[in-house]
Amino acid sequence: MRYVRFLPAVSLFALVWLPVSAQAQDPAETGRALLQQACASCHAIGKTGDSPRPGVPPFRGLSRSYDLDQFPRQLQAGIVSGHPDMPEFKFNEADAHAVGVYLRSIQE
Ligand code: HEC
Repeated sequence: MRYVRFLPAVSLFALVWLPVSAQAQDPAETGRALLQQACASCHAIGKTGDSPRPGVPPFRGLSRSYDLDQFPRQLQAGIVSGHPDMPEFKFNEADAHAVGVYLRSIQE
């Protein structure tokens, strides 16, 4: 009986939480869409292809210079890559996680 009483609280939590987190979708797909929006004008964000802007590193090589376990945290703190051309970006936790999942999926 204890479990039965607990159930309404669980479903209420799910109702409130799911739409906000945007995790109803595949996180990798969400991550790809976010990078497409914010980064793809300069960076190549796919498994192949050159960056639209010359001299900008494609994301599929990111794990060579970045620890992808830490990268989502950097995205949340605000990514400033130390070059003036790139605007500063900040991601919320769910978005940063999604971007991390996607980046992992494209590493070469
Ligand atoms: C207006 C162009 C522009 C946009 C938009 C942009 N970047 Fe960059 N980014 C650059 C340039 C230019 C470099 C390389 C500069 C250098 O080599 O010092 C770079 C480098 C980086 C690096 C360092 C890569 C490495 O291997 O050292 C990271 C990480 C990065 N960008 C992340 C992002 C993310 C995440 C986004 C989107 C949220 C983004 N950038 C959007 C221009 C851009």
